[in-house]
Amino acid sequence: MKKIGMSINANDRRSKIEPELYGHFSEHLGRCIYNGIYVGEDSDIPNVNGARKDIIEAFRRIKMPVLRWPGGCFADEYHWKDGIGEKSSRKKMVNTNWGGVTEDNSFGTHEFFDLCEQIGCEPYLAGNLGSGTVQELSEWIEYITFDGESPMTEQRRKNGREKPWKLKYLGVGNENWGCGGNMRPEYYADEYKRYQSFCKNYSGNELYKIACGPNADDFKWTEKLLENVNAMHTKGISLHYYTVPTGVWETKGSARDFSDELYYSTISKTLYMETLIKGHTEIMDRFDPENKIALIVDEWGCWYDVEEGTNPGFLYQQNTMRDAIVAACNLNIFNSHSDRVKMANLAQAVNVLQALVLTEGRDMVLTPTYHVFDLFKEHQGGELVYSHADDVRAGGKDEIPMLSESVSVKDGRMTVTLANCSIDDDAEVSCSILGFAGRKASAEILTAPSCREYNDFDAPERVAVRPFEVKTDENGFTAVLPKCSVVRITLS
Ligand code: AHR
Repeated sequence: MKKIGMSINANDRRSKIEPELYGHFSEHLGRCIYNGIYVGEDSDIPNVNGARKDIIEAFRRIKMPVLRWPGGCFADEYHWKDGIGEKSSRKKMVNTNWGGVTEDNSFGTHEFFDLCEQIGCEPYLAGNLGSGTVQELSEWIEYITFDGESPMTEQRRKNGREKPWKLKYLGVGNENWGCGGNMRPEYYADEYKRYQSFCKNYSGNELYKIACGPNADDFKWTEKLLENVNAMHTKGISLHYYTVPTGVWETKGSARDFSDELYYSTISKTLYMETLIKGHTEIMDRFDPENKIALIVDEWGCWYDVEEGTNPGFLYQQNTMRDAIVAACNLNIFNSHSDRVKMANLAQAVNVLQALVLTEGRDMVLTPTYHVFDLFKEHQGGELVYSHADDVRAGGKDEIPMLSESVSVKDGRMTVTLANCSIDDDAEVSCSILGFAGRKASAEILTAPSCREYNDFDAPERVAVRPFEVKTDENGFTAVLPKCSVVRITLS
């Protein structure tokens, strides 16, 4: 057992934790949309307008605030007009990025907006800048948001939707430094400005435009982009960073079968997210000292080798307690930097990479990562307050801080989220609290006997949230966190 001191000062209010920090991502990739979220109206799996009821319910339970679609790399080869109208006559295409499978476009704009309405979340569209045209993107916005008479709205009505939808978040391109066109930042910046100029605010709708930002530590991209694009053109720039345990893309490592050493290097690589956010924020502070442009981490999560026997282009992987710790660390980091980070989207929601939910036929399992989002949801819309934990280290080479934490206050309640990242030692956390009188505590824990534990179709509850005991007194609280655990404490 290791002892860790912690302190909270609720008088020191920091930034609002936007609900969108708890956002998600769904791409036309593998079984994320088809045979995942969307099974079609004729499926005997219970669905509403083709979307699985159990998945919608699960998403609602964690208060999913925003869903990004249709990619990823897919976005820059997606032509939205192929995905509207009578399904049987929709044009097919090859999904060149993800397994070369034939995309029948049966899930398109109407289906996506209907899905978001069912979930109760904001839609976030990734527009095609790589292989599309300015006119195509401009017309998509008109089709979706314009309330008047126009060729686009005439088509929308013909396709069954009388009233426009609201669309706030619009990404203009995806990874345009890579799969989205292999561009230089200067070239992309010019293209971005051209495209965004023709994405208009119709009928009271206000777009929150997001430019393609850097890949991981490509600080040059951020710098060059912001030399050319300012707050008149964009509300946010994206950042993509994936945790790859080995750090080698060709041999990323298995989702379930990993050494202790690889566990610690996975967490260490995850914590690098904070270095990245600080580095890009430093550059943003220089170009945008008034903090008008947000950092949008719209792809994050663990990326492993695919499960044996599955299509390598489908990126299907299991999800263990290790992923739960990764999720908790990332979410605590996003909370702590919520002055600049205003949205983050886990990759991806269903059956792809670090998924919330896995499906097999009619069955669905909630992953350990899902349960972390369930525990952390109380932070949404809260106010971050100052917190600090002693730097007690874990891991063979003492490579990582043992405790990950963040604290927020909302509606007279304090939410404290903690992760004991050690797989060797329990942590006794003694926390003093200033500026908050509430000492009535309730707590829940997510843990398992091993960091390799996961939920499967024959054992869906192996890793689940359980009640947890915390002691409070006039100074604060004390809790013993078992190794490899995630805890939420609510004080009121
Ligand atoms: O999430 C999978 C892929 O990762 C996305 O399509 C792409 O944007 C990123 O490289």
